[in-house]
Amino acid sequence: MAATIGGPVSCLSRIAVVTGGARGLGLGICKQLASNGVKVVLTDKDEEKGLDAVEKLKQFPHFDITFHHLNVTDSTNISSLSEFIKTKFKKLDILVNNAGVAGGIIDHEKLKVFDGKIEKLGKSANPFIIGETYERAEKCVSTNYYGTKTMTETFIPLLLSSQSPRIVNVTSRCGKLQYIPNQSIQKEIGDIDNLTEGKIDEMVRSFLSDFKEGNLRKNNWPTSLSAYIVSKVAVSAYTRLIAKRYPAICTNCIHPGFVRTDITGDLGTLSAEEAAKGPVMLALLPDGSPSGLFYDQTEVSSFT
Ligand SMILES: NC(=O)c1ccc[n+]([C@@H]2O[C@H](COP(=O)([O-])OP(=O)(O)OC[C@H]3O[C@@H](n4cnc5c(N)ncnc54)[C@H](OP(=O)(O)O)[C@@H]3O)[C@@H](O)[C@H]2O)c1
Repeated sequence: MAATIGGPVSCLSRIAVVTGGARGLGLGICKQLASNGVKVVLTDKDEEKGLDAVEKLKQFPHFDITFHHLNVTDSTNISSLSEFIKTKFKKLDILVNNAGVAGGIIDHEKLKVFDGKIEKLGKSANPFIIGETYERAEKCVSTNYYGTKTMTETFIPLLLSSQSPRIVNVTSRCGKLQYIPNQSIQKEIGDIDNLTEGKIDEMVRSFLSDFKEGNLRKNNWPTSLSAYIVSKVAVSAYTRLIAKRYPAICTNCIHPGFVRTDITGDLGTLSAEEAAKGPVMLALLPDGSPSGLFYDQTEVSSFT
């Protein structure tokens, strides 16, 4: 179902799709894109929350925001959104793959100790994430990595119809290769010259298989926040691959900072509005800007 606020559609304007747009960082990104004159398709898997978010944004009459239902793990939903964009706008200028889940239950009291510093994770006897079951690990990988991948594959033809296409993948500092202790994975996934989609998919498959068999420690995977780390490493690597494969599409990934949203139990150093500045900066990069980079907020960082 779609509900629209704002002015008439012009194909001359920039069109953006934001996943997981009804709350948290995604909502902040939708607002800032709209305030920059971008026509935003705010999507979320929860129709009620999405429609409610659009209703609340009516207080900004100059925003042009449409809601469309989207569960990024449902390929039928993705196809239906793509048909909607194709029929209504004929192109897509900006795709923000923001939707994400943690892969377990965050213990917010323990998270306070980390203060957003993932480096502390390996040294702690009290990890802030509990209940990392196989089902949650699978859901985390399906949402964070395969959701980003299927959205990207589906929307590439529409992005290639734009004069200035941009893809912004919301990864995490956890999505740096150093957080996977397995050296051969670090080497293989870090080697951009020889990286393939097959290698990223194989990393994710062997992680899930080792998770199921109880072999995470034995095969040098992270043992805490493991699905989140592996899924975000996959998102970061996939970003580089897409940037290389489609030079016409400026594609980057970003760690937005430690943000006060539901996933962090409202802990964090940045509000969603403040953290949205990085992804929005990447969405609005001028033509000719670098592609295939990892940003930590608004600064270029490394994939490792
Ligand atoms: N907060 C931080 O400190 C932080 C740090 C690094 C990276 N990130 C990343 O930033 C992104 C946004 O996170 P957040 O902090 O805003 O968390 P959040 O408040 O928990 O929001 C997550 C969003 O993702 C959506 N989502 C989850 N599964 C989905 C699915 N299958 N299909 C479509 N949408 C789905 C949720 O939709 P519903 O409302 O329907 O559940 C929600 O809108 C995530 O990718 C996260 O990993 C956050």
